[in-house]
Amino acid sequence: MTIKVNFKKSDKIVEVFSGRSLLSIARESNVFIPSPCGGNARCGGCRVKILEGNDLEDISAEEYLRLKDEEIEKGFRLACSYIVKEDIEVEV
Ligand code: FES
Repeated sequence: MTIKVNFKKSDKIVEVFSGRSLLSIARESNVFIPSPCGGNARCGGCRVKILEGNDLEDISAEEYLRLKDEEIEKGFRLACSYIVKEDIEVEV
């Protein structure tokens, strides 16, 4: 199934297969998201705000570890851990 990822600030909308990490989609789309630990969910540096389509039911254990509760409530996710399954809009 293909989905749309809207990188709002980058003014880029891409259509990709679902089930991939947001970080890999961003890299492939030439949208820069910092990833100091190389996408291994160890640093928290890839946190991004999801503006629309955020599915909190599938938030990973790594995200609970690296993000504060307030950040999760505001829609932040770890791009390297967030497996995108539906259309989303991202702040970057
Ligand atoms: S790149 Fe380090 S937590 Fe995602």
